[in-house]
Amino acid sequence: MAKLRVGLLFGGRSVEHEVSINSAYSIFRALDPERYEVHVIAVDHAGRWHLSPPARPPQSPIEGDEVRAPAVPGERGLLPAAAGAAQPLAQLDILFPIVHGRGGEDGWLQGLLELAELPYVGSGVLGSALQMDKEVSKRLLHAAALPVLPWISVRAPELERDAAAVVRRASDDIGLPVFVKPANGGSSVGISRAADADGLAAALREAARYDTKILVERAIPARDVEVALLGNEPVEASIVGEIRTRREFYDYEAKYVDEDTELLVPAPISEELSERLRALAIEAFQALEGDGLARVDFVVDRDTEEFFVNEVNSLPGFTDVSMYPQLWQATGLPYPALLDRLIELGMERHRRRSALETQYRRT
Ligand SMILES: Nc1ncnc2c1ncn2[C@@H]1O[C@H](COP(=O)(O)OP(=O)(O)O)[C@@H](O)[C@H]1O
Ligand SMILES: [Mg+2]
Repeated sequence: MAKLRVGLLFGGRSVEHEVSINSAYSIFRALDPERYEVHVIAVDHAGRWHLSPPARPPQSPIEGDEVRAPAVPGERGLLPAAAGAAQPLAQLDILFPIVHGRGGEDGWLQGLLELAELPYVGSGVLGSALQMDKEVSKRLLHAAALPVLPWISVRAPELERDAAAVVRRASDDIGLPVFVKPANGGSSVGISRAADADGLAAALREAARYDTKILVERAIPARDVEVALLGNEPVEASIVGEIRTRREFYDYEAKYVDEDTELLVPAPISEELSERLRALAIEAFQALEGDGLARVDFVVDRDTEEFFVNEVNSLPGFTDVSMYPQLWQATGLPYPALLDRLIELGMERHRRRSALETQYRRT
């Protein structure tokens, strides 16, 4: 049987560019060369695509010919970016995007792929956009009666006009301490905890460097507990994992630098709580239009065991030691089989959608 031609897209113009390289490297190493012909495509910091030389794994610095994917239905070739060049440098059957954050995980890329009618791994335009935006996500989760921490959102102009008023509004409505976050972000970049008015003002300024919409949320003494999901409809939940850090919270350093951060699989929680979180994770995924995969993160109060959905990540960290693959490994699905399944799910989603009518026909 002919090999499936998989485009592995990594990098991107977000603060998570480097993280994406590590994820893509692990995926490249684990994709079965008997089944797949892999084309590695790097997105540089300016958002331009480069087709890596054959057999070169995802790595930095970026090399290779600049290419573009035409947003033309059925044209699945990567064309040279140079004007006038017409012959594709590679043909793809499916794209596996492992571009975290803005431009990759938020629906932009998925829109391009829909226009090209190219199958891809993971959530579609709407699901990606919803899961990326922490504020819209919270509204939808709240509307679906799922537990979320109280929050307010702040827009940049309001903050620029009267920062002191925003500080008062946040302290009055939410109460200190709080977490302050850019609404669209990841890897904890731009996030801080504030315990007093001065700290809150500084935290708002910091978050405003990364987004024009900011979330202020009640802070709890939190344990970070996570569930991996796999499937379109129906979707399955993995066993539950927990992250332990010695830092104040699970910040950028704890995620990528600190050697003492521990992944506990399974999480040391009761069977009852674990079942509850797995069911909630599926509800959260469905409320946010997820497809294929997601990692649903909860915060669990250390003192009371009260739990809240923190966020749903449509493209979680994907190195072979990241939480998402580890959870599936421990649930009985090894990393290479997980990749096979994700590719199958992407093809299945595409088949289902391309079978839909695009013209009115009287029946
Ligand atoms: N309301 C909160 N209370 C306590 N800890 C929080 C709260 N919000 C976030 N955190 C901590 O900050 C970390 C990063 O926040 P998160 O919203 O997950 O952002 P990111 O998308 O960057 O991962 C969480 O994993 C958790 O450790
Ligand atoms: Mg997080």
